[in-house]
Amino acid sequence: MTDIDWDELRRTAVAAMQRAYAPYSRYRVGAAALVDDGRVVAGCNVENASYGVGLCAECALVGDLHMSGGGRLAAFVCVNGEGETIMPCGRCRQLLYEFAQPGMLLQTVSGIRTIDEVLPDAFGPRDLEAAQAGPTTQGER
Ligand code: THU
Repeated sequence: MTDIDWDELRRTAVAAMQRAYAPYSRYRVGAAALVDDGRVVAGCNVENASYGVGLCAECALVGDLHMSGGGRLAAFVCVNGEGETIMPCGRCRQLLYEFAQPGMLLQTVSGIRTIDEVLPDAFGPRDLEAAQAGPTTQGER
């Protein structure tokens, strides 16, 4: 596993935040993550006049992850417009979980945490595999 350079990740998150499109909330967010092969991926929030359609920074980050070659997330940080660490929202914890390597680390408002600490007992791909392998219920194929 590559060593985690938290300072570099924070710098990347701040640079991403400066690209945010947040004219409605005026709350800019930047996110950055280290991938298990050493790449760094990033994203910013992109809002929309149809407010509910706005995209969190983590949405762009997982898009960047896939567009740049996939892999598993090893370490993550997100920041607000002041460059302060913020927590990923609940939906985004789920987004991160999908692509997290086991034990993925997050820099949070209460220190370094694992993905399992910030999203305990997560629902994930394995739950779907288990359901597909199991017996079907009436009406399902
Ligand atoms: N936001 C993110 O980009 N990520 C989060 O994890 C928390 C919230 C954005 C969404 C919206 O554009 C703005 O912050 C205010 O909620």
